[in-house]
Amino acid sequence: MMMLPLTAAAAPQSALHPAGSGAARIAELFWWMGGAALAIWLLVLLIAFYARSRPAVPEDDRCAANRLIIGGGAVFPTAALAALLIYSLPLTSEMRTPRTPGGVTTRIEVSGEQWWWRVRYLPQEGTGVAVDSANEIRLPAGQAVEFILSSPDVIHSFWIPSLGGKVDMIPGRITTLVLEPLEPGVYRGACAEYCGASHAVMNFMTVVMEPAAFARWLERAAAPARPPADPHAARGQRAFMMHGCGACHTVRGTAADGRVGPDLTHVGGRLSLGAAVLPNTPDAFARWIGHTQQVKPEVKMPAFGMLPDEELAALAAYLSGLK
Ligand code: CUA
Repeated sequence: MMMLPLTAAAAPQSALHPAGSGAARIAELFWWMGGAALAIWLLVLLIAFYARSRPAVPEDDRCAANRLIIGGGAVFPTAALAALLIYSLPLTSEMRTPRTPGGVTTRIEVSGEQWWWRVRYLPQEGTGVAVDSANEIRLPAGQAVEFILSSPDVIHSFWIPSLGGKVDMIPGRITTLVLEPLEPGVYRGACAEYCGASHAVMNFMTVVMEPAAFARWLERAAAPARPPADPHAARGQRAFMMHGCGACHTVRGTAADGRVGPDLTHVGGRLSLGAAVLPNTPDAFARWIGHTQQVKPEVKMPAFGMLPDEELAALAAYLSGLK
């Protein structure tokens, strides 16, 4: 309870500052549970002080002892816990059903990889195409979004504390989560299940947008990559192809069509790099490509530290330009 004031400042990753209907119910549950625990703790303290101020009951007074044990040890906890249980149980099922009219409008597949997030926006209502992305999720505000969650190898847990609860991503199984983001903003998500060496650096940004802006963004995200804007970036693109980056990464509209690593078609337009580990700047690109294993230990991408600095800079310029 004494730590609570520390959470008072608005935070991009706080279950106590809900920006989605699921998170709001969880916060409500937390405050009721926390409030009840505080009230019971104060009650026990009061009784303890009251007991000290009274003359001691003789040790052979069985009747008083029984009253205390049955009342304070059985009846009161059963009643208090039953009340909290009755209040909290329906919340779990309520969180599974969207409350916004129109039901689920957007479906997004997210796969937990080591240690990043594979993201695919599924086509809506028979129109449009699936749009691949990674390590950043954009959502329309005020609409229900269904996440279809999976993992090819180890267990991860998908969690955007500001928007809702967490759900495990389990190899061989599909799990789902419905979120209803209410307020536009940027919220941080994290992997909430230990999944290996770089578990702690497996995060992502969630951008909640007005529905019209989201639709425009999705249309741009579906388009192929723009060609390099200047000779420096063009040199970076040649380096990208020459060093085999396209064997693992896709840049739609080019020969790069690898599926092992994140889709990079619009990587320059994301808020962060390396699953919310680095800022999205040319310098950070060069650092990531040259020192991959320092930034994210044991990640499957090998470091390209042997490349000359100017080639790293050209690669960074090319990738930063993929907006
Ligand atoms: Cu993925 Cu922890």
